[in-house]
Order: sequence, then structure tokens, then C-alpha cells
Amino acid sequence: MKKIGLFDSGIGGFSILKDLMKINPAMSFYYIADEAFLPYGEKSEEFVRKRCEKIVEVLMEKEVDLVVVACNTATALGIQSLRERFCGIPFVGVEPYLNIVNQVEAFSSGGEAPSPRRLAALITPSTKVSPRFVKLKKRVDPKGEISIFDCKNLANIVEEFYSEGNSFELEEKLRLELRPLKDSGFTHVILGCTHYPLVQSFIEKELGCQCISPGPYVAKRVKYLIEGSTLKTSKPFAESTENSSFQFLSTKSGAWALRKFSDFTLIS
Ligand code: DGL
Repeated sequence: MKKIGLFDSGIGGFSILKDLMKINPAMSFYYIADEAFLPYGEKSEEFVRKRCEKIVEVLMEKEVDLVVVACNTATALGIQSLRERFCGIPFVGVEPYLNIVNQVEAFSSGGEAPSPRRLAALITPSTKVSPRFVKLKKRVDPKGEISIFDCKNLANIVEEFYSEGNSFELEEKLRLELRPLKDSGFTHVILGCTHYPLVQSFIEKELGCQCISPGPYVAKRVKYLIEGSTLKTSKPFAESTENSSFQFLSTKSGAWALRKFSDFTLIS
């Protein structure tokens, strides 16, 4: 069974894990949440890069076959140096799915002309100023159709939903964070931090929009690499009867801990 390592500053990578488990049922997953240093979204490039390297060292000890950088901020600030330093292993990153702007079919229904659209992307402050993101935005969205919003507290609020459960106060915090987008008529909102899809249905209801996440594309890319010639599995996935296994390590507790992860919807 192939071993996939994943990491994020916290539980955000669960939104990616969910799609990976759907498409790759027979895998072992090692997940590291760097909760002691959350949020990455306000840290410097050097800080995040060093954390990424530390975490990948631990994943290497687990002898993983591939690493998913299940965090947009870590991808923006750290994936390049990870690829340089750990060159024997493939890395799959997560980036805000800005490409949707050029996929006309995503906005048409049944061959009709595309419906009017207004696009926004929610990202962390560190992702917003990273050269990698700035370059991506220029290349994919040269006409500047996508409005970018950096969210200072959203990832933390999602963590609070996970640790404390749903409450009126937390819902109010979430509403406050989304206020800059409210009543602006955004039809599609790109979720550019892996924490955000965990509260996707709340965001969709609050803003009356459709949210877009890269999880399914990341899962397909992992499947492609795992099934490719360099990382051949012993059996095709369709024939495999093995079940996936999951180990969760948090830097906060400092110990492996199995937690409930079957329900990825924290609030709807
Ligand atoms: N989940 C992370 C991301 O995708 C970052 C959250 C944070 O630590 O700020 O960007």
C-alpha cells in the first residue's frame, strides 16, 4: 500500500484528505497538523519554509512515497525549497483555483451562453503577497476579473469550530469575517486556503454564491503520479480490497492521535 504524507498548519488539509480518500481508497495517510505554529497565513516566508522542511523530515522518517502540501500558504512560500531539498520524492501542492476564470463551461448550463459572473478569491495574507501567487494571478487572470480578499482570522475560526463545536458566537465571528464580500454580488468564490472548504456550505449560504475548491484536482494529480511509472502500485485501485489507514500527528499535542475525521462538515 502506498504511503501519502500530508501536512497543513492545522486541520485545513482534511478538506484535501477527503478528496484523496474518495479517489485513492487503498492508501495509508500520514497527516501532520502544525498547530503549534498556526496560523501560517501571517508568518514570514522564511518561517513557513523552515516549518515545511521540519515537517517533511518527519514524513521522510515515515517513508512516505509522495507528499501533499495540503496548504495554500505552505505551497506559496515553501514548495519550491522542498522540491530542491528533498529531490527524490514528488510533492503535490495546493493553489487557489484561479483557473476557473478561463473555464467557460463552468459558467454555462447545457450549452447555453455563459451566465453573468462575479468572481472572488479568499486567501491568507501571506499567500496574497507571495511572489508565486502574484505570478499565478497575472498569468491566469490578466484582465483582473477575480477580486482578491485576504482573511486574517478565517483559518483560526475554522480551527475553533473543530475544537469547540458550533456556537452562535463562532457563527457571528464567521459572518464578520465574510462581511467585506457580503452583498457584492459575487456568484463564485474561490476558496484559496484549505481550511475554508470545511465551512463551505455556511459561506455559500451567507454570500449566496457557489464555492470552488481545488481538492478534486489535487486528488487526481496524486492518483496520476501514484499510478505513473515512477510510483507503480502493485494492484490497480479498482481491484484493491485494502482499506485506507490514517495517522494524525499534531505538533501541539506532540503525539500521534486518532481523531474523528469522517465528518468533514464542521458547520452548514
Ligand atoms: N490552511 C492553510 C492554507 O491553505 C493556512 C491557514 C493558516 O495557517 O493561516 O493556506
